[in-house]
Amino acid sequence: MTESGGIINTGLRGVPVASTRICLVDGKNAKLIYRGYNITDLAENATFEEVVHLLLFEHLPAAGELDYLKQRLAEEQSVSDGIISALKTRPVDSAPMDILQACVAMLANHDPEAGVLSREKATETAIRLIAKLPVVAAAWNRIRNGMDPLPPDPDLGHAGNFLYMLTGTKPDEELARFMDLCLVLHAEHSFNASTFSARQVASTRAHMYAAIAAAVGSLSGELHGGANARVMQMLLEIGTQDAVDDYVESRIRAGEKIMGMGHPVYKTGDPRAGILGPMSKRMGEKTGNTGWYELSEAVRRKTQEVFKKLKGTGIYPNVDFYSATVYYAMGIPVDMFTPIFAVSRISGWCAHVIEEQFAGAAPKPALYRPSSQYVGEYCGPAECSFVPMEKRG
Ligand SMILES: CC(C)(COP(=O)(O)OP(=O)(O)OC[C@H]1O[C@@H](n2cnc3c(N)ncnc32)[C@H](O)[C@@H]1OP(=O)(O)O)[C@@H](O)C(=O)NCCC(=O)NCCS
Repeated sequence: MTESGGIINTGLRGVPVASTRICLVDGKNAKLIYRGYNITDLAENATFEEVVHLLLFEHLPAAGELDYLKQRLAEEQSVSDGIISALKTRPVDSAPMDILQACVAMLANHDPEAGVLSREKATETAIRLIAKLPVVAAAWNRIRNGMDPLPPDPDLGHAGNFLYMLTGTKPDEELARFMDLCLVLHAEHSFNASTFSARQVASTRAHMYAAIAAAVGSLSGELHGGANARVMQMLLEIGTQDAVDDYVESRIRAGEKIMGMGHPVYKTGDPRAGILGPMSKRMGEKTGNTGWYELSEAVRRKTQEVFKKLKGTGIYPNVDFYSATVYYAMGIPVDMFTPIFAVSRISGWCAHVIEEQFAGAAPKPALYRPSSQYVGEYCGPAECSFVPMEKRG
């Protein structure tokens, strides 16, 4: 809790609000665990579809279960003409995250059973949303550029299809696996801001669509999912290696943030950045331009040096730091970086909504209702007397 002048602003840091079986973020030991499995193990061995199964159904799928999930995702990989028509009416400069948030709410309009509250229905809606969000994101990128959305290719997996529908180019195996890996790494992260938003809405017994729409809005902020786009904007602004030192030092001295650096929980390093760093380097080699990776490394080194000098502490790159240059090398527009985060994290959000409503460790879902400290102008024992309009000031 931080207090200054009697004003409380906890940001809920370190305050446990619920028990969960989904994810452990071990900030001290730089570990991330999805339902008992270490992220480094999953990154090496699992596909995004396997992770979706793990998160929603609480175990890694057997072969038949995985086939069934893939089939269901493929069946749901389309959006109705109504939604495509609605997208075509949006101003072309609409923020993609705003489009996603609106589309999640619109998808509820196209589901006559949206309001049915059962675990089976929530799981079906989860699969529906996990399948459709990448389709909507990719469709918006095409529509705003005056093109028709591309239909999915049944020969490509979830990640490969997303990349194909987004960029218009069929990815090779390595590229599709890199996108798959990005989705695995971003899928879940315990009670982060957007997941907490989803759970908070779910605790009111609102439906899955309402909870996920809230989470998309929360993810859009630059201190959360929006950071990956801001990292790339920062690198583009810095431009060259010789501008790094001045940029980093002056920003930190001015109390401004170096995007992609630091984390509210990981204080000794973010394990996902350890996987994405080498991927960023490899993407640079693959596309014949390692410049952005090298520039980001210079920013990391300088930030760490200045932090040590000014604050006497360490600071480490987070998941957004290297994912920015990975996506950029994949030819993805910068404002689509955060939607990629959403396309992955929706799996974690859905698992949390299901846990909140149907499988919580607590006996029944609790409506979140924190308290606050009133410090308004008229605080104190006395209440104000109502002032008639003619006597107001
Ligand atoms: C993520 C973030 C909000 C965590 O903030 P936090 O929990 O307040 O971090 P800390 O408590 O470790 O901050 C300690 C100090 O370092 C500063 N700091 C933290 N991250 C910083 C950054 N990226 N650049 C510059 N200064 C930073 C804080 O302002 C604070 O300064 P102070 O002691 O003068 O008040 C913060 O690191 C940040 O804004 N990073 C950039 C945005 C980003 O990448 N977000 C994605 C997160 S996954």
